[in-house]
Amino acid sequence: MFRAEIRPGIELRLLEERHAPALFHRIQHDRDYLREWLPFIEATHGEDDTLAFIRASLEQFSSNEGFAAGIWGGELMGVIGTRKIDWMNRKVEVGYWIGREFQGRGIMTDACRLVIDHLFSDLDLHRVEIQCATGNQKSAAIPRRLGFTLEGTRRQAELVNGKFLDLLVFGMLRQDWRGVRLPWTP
Ligand SMILES: CC(C)(COP(=O)(O)OP(=O)(O)OC[C@H]1O[C@@H](n2cnc3c(N)ncnc32)[C@H](O)[C@@H]1OP(=O)(O)O)[C@@H](O)C(=O)NCCC(=O)NCCS
Repeated sequence: MFRAEIRPGIELRLLEERHAPALFHRIQHDRDYLREWLPFIEATHGEDDTLAFIRASLEQFSSNEGFAAGIWGGELMGVIGTRKIDWMNRKVEVGYWIGREFQGRGIMTDACRLVIDHLFSDLDLHRVEIQCATGNQKSAAIPRRLGFTLEGTRRQAELVNGKFLDLLVFGMLRQDWRGVRLPWTP
């Protein structure tokens, strides 16, 4: 297991099987708000589904292909993680979501900063991507705040609630990363 402090009282912890109930509870609690942008919400019907997601992400972690971490501040607030690492090209995409009541505090920007620092500094990746729907301004504000470059738009690249959404592609290269090195405990 790893954990890393984002700020006092808030930390990232690798998602483990025992977190499945807390993860499902968070999704249930914020279902209407999360489903607007996250296609997997519609396919999450019970704790079995969150458990399957956690198992898959633990397998991903044990194969050195990425991870999913919970954001904890007394309770599970949200999730940040990576898609499968493309080791051939030393790049990966980061994804995230946080409960509605925890928005607007900069928690996800700080979580992204920590994770991206880990990806460049510890895993020696060359490129990190963040993609979000063109209408998802709160999500797009995060890579913008972190100095990512908007590189283009993937047209109708994601099917959410029956609609194909255009995705903005933001990229950060290792040599351009100005993140602050924070403690990361493997
Ligand atoms: C996308 C999402 C994670 C953004 O959450 P967020 O809380 O806006 O993001 P941050 O944690 O970076 O917080 C930024 C906000 O906190 C404020 N803030 C306060 N302290 C801050 C700090 N120290 N640093 C940065 N921002 C800070 C910012 O001004 C900003 O507020 P604003 O939206 O009123 O301008 C969240 O809206 C979400 O989970 N949405 C649903 C799922 C989703 O869309 N996921 C992404 C799919 S691509």
